[in-house]
Amino acid sequence: MSNQLLQGKRGIIFGALDPNSIAWKTAERVHEEGGTFVLTNAPIAMRMGTINELAEKTGSTVIPADATSLEDLQKLVDQSVEILGGKLDFVLHSIGMSVNVRKGRSYTDQKYDWTQKGTDVSAMSFHKVMQTLYKSDAMNEWGSIVALSYMAAQRVFPDYNDMADNKAYLESIARSFGYFFGRDKKVRVNTISQSPTPTTAGKGVKGFDGFIAYAEKMSPLGNATALDCANYTITLFSDLTKRVTLQNLYNDGGFSNMGVSDAIMERFVED
Ligand SMILES: NC(=O)c1ccc[n+]([C@@H]2O[C@H](COP(=O)([O-])OP(=O)(O)OC[C@H]3O[C@@H](n4cnc5c(N)ncnc54)[C@H](O)[C@@H]3O)[C@@H](O)[C@H]2O)c1
Repeated sequence: MSNQLLQGKRGIIFGALDPNSIAWKTAERVHEEGGTFVLTNAPIAMRMGTINELAEKTGSTVIPADATSLEDLQKLVDQSVEILGGKLDFVLHSIGMSVNVRKGRSYTDQKYDWTQKGTDVSAMSFHKVMQTLYKSDAMNEWGSIVALSYMAAQRVFPDYNDMADNKAYLESIARSFGYFFGRDKKVRVNTISQSPTPTTAGKGVKGFDGFIAYAEKMSPLGNATALDCANYTITLFSDLTKRVTLQNLYNDGGFSNMGVSDAIMERFVED
């Protein structure tokens, strides 16, 4: 389905690793809607993933960049503006990683240099991306910047570990930077709080199968898929949402406002 909602718009998409990635689905949908973009990921992900296939399919250039490196980000932004032929209209930050989660260290047994690395990659990188775009004046007026979050920023999900704190920080950066980007450049900044989704990052969280199944039974509309997230992002990149900014927007089938559902109750009620 295409409505050419992004015809003539240019952008950067961070974080497409493989076809399960939310950023991968978003890139495919942006392409269908007429947008053009540069794809980027950490240099190491170039070797692990299959981003070149996506680039070929969508007619995009790939520029490796570690999102924690200001030098890489500056080159990425400068080259993207040049390759795409003008300032940018949209940016997707779809990046997350916790070393403590990866190495199985619990929330009460953090190795703090790992915690710091995770914060830098998952949250501060969003500030770095926006500061680079802002200082380079690389966004067009009425442009749109989106990052992806999870509701562990508001509620307790014990196995989400230090990523919960990183998402709270990410959402705060969206509001704080969104103020300055809105006031000075008329650019909007939002986060989408997405359902659990079976991707490399998602499946890396301990107990993922349990909490994706739980969320599915708790949500009146069921879990939002990666494609649902891509479609929501398209609306936020389009001109139909020009004054939506500083928001954390739930794309979760209703999960975030539920207390309990019949499907969950059935499992606990004795006959
Ligand atoms: N999967 C879920 O259940 C879920 C739910 C809510 C939100 N999210 C968020 O969605 C976003 C995308 O994750 P995904 O689920 O598509 O998984 P994914 O593993 O496909 O994507 C994560 C991406 O982050 C990239 N990355 C890691 N370190 C980087 C660095 N230093 N520089 C640049 N890129 C780097 C990885 O290479 C990868 O492409 C993340 O922010 C994640 O936290 C995921």
